[in-house]
Amino acid sequence: MQEINTQILIIDLGSQYTEIIRRSLRYLGFRSTIISPEELLEAPDVGRLEASRRPTSGAGANLKSIILSGGSASVYDGDAPKIPKEILDLGIPILGICYGMQWLAYVNNPDSVHKVKEGKSYGPVEVTLSKSKLFENLSEKNNGKINAWSSHGDSVKKVPADFSIIATSKDGVVIEGMECQAKNIYAVQFHPEVEQTEDENIILNNFASKICNCILDYDKKNIIEEIRTNTKKILGNGTAIIGVSGGVDSTTLAAILAPALGEQLKAFVIDTGGMRKDEVERVREIAKKAGVNLEVIDRYKNKFVESVGKSIDAEEKRAHFRAVYGEVFQEVAKSYGATHMIQGTLATDLIESGGAGKSALIKTHHNVDLKLGLKEIIPLSDFFKFEVRELAREFGLEELLTNRQPFPGPGLYLRIVGVKVTEELLEIVREADYEVTQILKKHNVYKDISQTIVALLGVNTVGVKGDGRVYGYSLVVRTVETIDFMTVKGFYLEKVICEEITSALVKHPKIVRVFFDWTTKPPATTEFE
Ligand code: XMP
Repeated sequence: MQEINTQILIIDLGSQYTEIIRRSLRYLGFRSTIISPEELLEAPDVGRLEASRRPTSGAGANLKSIILSGGSASVYDGDAPKIPKEILDLGIPILGICYGMQWLAYVNNPDSVHKVKEGKSYGPVEVTLSKSKLFENLSEKNNGKINAWSSHGDSVKKVPADFSIIATSKDGVVIEGMECQAKNIYAVQFHPEVEQTEDENIILNNFASKICNCILDYDKKNIIEEIRTNTKKILGNGTAIIGVSGGVDSTTLAAILAPALGEQLKAFVIDTGGMRKDEVERVREIAKKAGVNLEVIDRYKNKFVESVGKSIDAEEKRAHFRAVYGEVFQEVAKSYGATHMIQGTLATDLIESGGAGKSALIKTHHNVDLKLGLKEIIPLSDFFKFEVRELAREFGLEELLTNRQPFPGPGLYLRIVGVKVTEELLEIVREADYEVTQILKKHNVYKDISQTIVALLGVNTVGVKGDGRVYGYSLVVRTVETIDFMTVKGFYLEKVICEEITSALVKHPKIVRVFFDWTTKPPATTEFE
């Protein structure tokens, strides 16, 4: 069982929002530990929790509260998360969220929960709040009503004997919150941790500070030091490699770790041959300013082009790209005698890939990555994009935040469509990307565009160049705006900008047409492949 040295313990009951509870608490100034019910059951007498409650000397915190996260199961499911009932006897406050609330009702009275009948309740819900310590400074606002986010199947149909209802929706028909003051147990069926709930984190703050008397124990300033210390601890005498792409996450992480790990850290950037114009040099300069010496690995460029150029199928191209990428990593790791690989993966990526859940500040995957034979360290696995952007500022990496649009790992290889990738075509899209960027910057719109894609369509069409008919390729310029790339909308360019782009791009002898693409996603994706 992992060490619990925080005041707040979050029991993860399978919600995709569990990491967000932790993030919101951190935003409020509180650390927390996420633990699975299985881990808790490893200590069925909850003895470990009892020990955690004892005040420790020095910086160690004692456990003061438990939050039960949401989850997708029904309390009636055979495989529903099994929470040890002993937590109810620890005498510390508990906050149940969503499934957490249903479990609290069910465990006190098995007949208190409606099994989901008519599909899940998912989306915004107007909740009416009563007077409760949990809702202090919130129920007074807006006549005691807030818009909250709900995402649940089961619902509580009646509260257990010694509980009272503190929140409802649908004219009092649906129970949205309950409390038992005597036992210090509180619960809400909606999700106070997500930003769609308009409570500005007041509910979690009330729980942590007013109900549990937690003291502020998370300070952003200490985070950099903690990441360094914990990574050093895991690395021991080993040597770690970190691949830096020039994106915010990997560059910031390298900047955090470089001074602490010194020669134990080998940072490098792979020139895949599919990068934007001057990108490798730029990434190297930016990293250098942030204190990171990047080795440029460019001896595999031809291999990337040859390998990706074997197919015009998008997924096959990606597979070829990944295979060469893995090979390069392997060789680089071997040349450095590396024992560990440091990755800049964030909580968001792990949530999307279903890998989030555990919550040591630094997550180390003890399972060895068989392909590389290295242990992975993922120091930013608890952090969200906005937090990493804040850390980036500490290292003067503003340029990455403001001046560079995102760029996919396989880069320009994804932007040659319907024809096999060659060095020559890569050069055409690279130059075109550069020219379009310069024009957009000149017209002061580049900063408002979330991503610009310039792709070559490998279909020959007729054109007229000089005195004769020619066959040539087309370029597509796609400018989009978005918050999270889950959906995008077109960023429409003015006629004068379109004209300037068109006349610049058709100067290339092989290009006869330029299209502009402002299709939304869905149905289109951001990239063409
Ligand atoms: P789509 O095309 O899926 O793109 O709407 C959303 C965002 O993801 C980027 N993208 C990739 N990034 N490897 C990457 O590192 C890839 O294979 C890849 N495919 C798409 C895309 O540029 C956009 O920012």
